Amino acid sequence: MAVRKIIRMGHPTLRQPARPLTPEEIGSDEIAALVEDMVDTLHDYGGIGLAAPQIDEPVRLAIIDMPGGESRYGDIEAMPLSVFANPQIEVLDERRAGYWEGCLSVPGLRGFVERPQHIQVSATDLDGEPISLTLQGFAATVFQHEFDHLDGRLYIDLIDDTRKLVFEDEFARYGDPTGTDAPLPDQR
Ligand code: NI
Repeated sequence: MAVRKIIRMGHPTLRQPARPLTPEEIGSDEIAALVEDMVDTLHDYGGIGLAAPQIDEPVRLAIIDMPGGESRYGDIEAMPLSVFANPQIEVLDERRAGYWEGCLSVPGLRGFVERPQHIQVSATDLDGEPISLTLQGFAATVFQHEFDHLDGRLYIDLIDDTRKLVFEDEFARYGDPTGTDAPLPDQR
C-alpha cells in the first residue's frame, strides 16, 4: 500500500483522455495494486472519489467512497467504497441541478456546476463483472465529476458563471458571492 501524490491542475495528464483497460488488465495484480494505492491516497487526502489520472495513471479507472449522511454537500446517500473500470454514463433526464464542487486536483477552490441529475452508470468491477447503477441528485454529480477525469475534463471547465469559482475559505465565510444560490445547510 502506498499514498501517492495527487497531481494538480496544470499537469498534462489531467488533460488527456485515459485509455481503456483490457479485460486481462482488469483482473491483474498490477491493477489490484493500483486500486489499493488509489484507496490509500483517497483516504489520506480526504475526499469522496478519485480517478486514476489524478495519480498520473492515465487509465479508465475510478473509485468512489461516500460515507453518506450530513456533509458539506447536505444530506447525501451512502456509497460504500466501489471500483469502476471503463465506466460509461447515459443521461436519463437532461434536467440539471447545481452543486458547489471541489477537486483534489484543484485544491482550495470550489465552483458551482450544473449537471444532469438522473444517470445510468455502466462499468466493470475488478472481478470483471458488469456493474449497472442508476443514480440521482448529488450522487449523479459525483460520478460525472469523477468520470470526467477519464476524459481530461475538470469541473472548472463546466462553470457557467466564473464568478462562482471561489476559494474554499471565502466560500465558508461568504457563501455564494453572487447571492443567487442559497448557502448549503452547514454553511449558514
Ligand atoms: Ni476531481
